[in-house]
Amino acid sequence: MVQVVLPNDANPLGFILGGTVMHLIDIAGAIACHRHTRTLLVTAAVDDLQFLHSIKVGDLIILKARVTCAFTTSLEVQVDVFSEETLTGRRQMTSTAFLTFVAIDRAGEKVRVPPLLLEDDEDRRRCEEAHRRRELRLQKKHLRKSEV
Ligand SMILES: CC(C)(COP(=O)(O)OP(=O)(O)OC[C@H]1O[C@@H](n2cnc3c(N)ncnc32)[C@H](O)[C@@H]1OP(=O)(O)O)[C@@H](O)C(=O)NCCC(=O)NCCS
Repeated sequence: MVQVVLPNDANPLGFILGGTVMHLIDIAGAIACHRHTRTLLVTAAVDDLQFLHSIKVGDLIILKARVTCAFTTSLEVQVDVFSEETLTGRRQMTSTAFLTFVAIDRAGEKVRVPPLLLEDDEDRRRCEEAHRRRELRLQKKHLRKSEV
């Protein structure tokens, strides 16, 4: 997904708002997951997010989303965010986010997601790492739930 950063998206310093980047990450991640599952989806989790560089008005924001692993009713997607200066083409990675989406039907019931075809060692490595992140995420969720 590519978008130009407009003044409406920016803080008084002329940099894109963190919330706008988060919104775009959610959208890019959801699109990749929709194209894999062809179901309705809800966002279940967004792993901790860092903004390594600011993106200024007039720059392009580029989001690359890739489904890393499909579980049973949920799947993980990685979204890498880049800035690109329009006049020089200089590109910097500004964030990497991992999101989990859960597939649901119109009644809100969870549905199975199709398996992800892992074509090479790199795909298999990504999926193994996603399994490890999933374990940590679910542990965190249970901890949170036990606190409330
Ligand atoms: C996300 C949601 C569907 C999970 O429902 P639940 O009844 O707790 O789900 P379950 O424990 O049965 O888990 C269902 C799947 O979601 C995964 N999941 C649930 N919570 C998760 C979390 N916090 N992080 C990662 N995965 C999660 C489970 O691992 C499971 O995946 P699997 O079937 O692939 O193994 C439910 O909490 C919900 O609807 N939340 C609100 C979603 C929303 O409104 N999002 C918009 C932004 S607020």
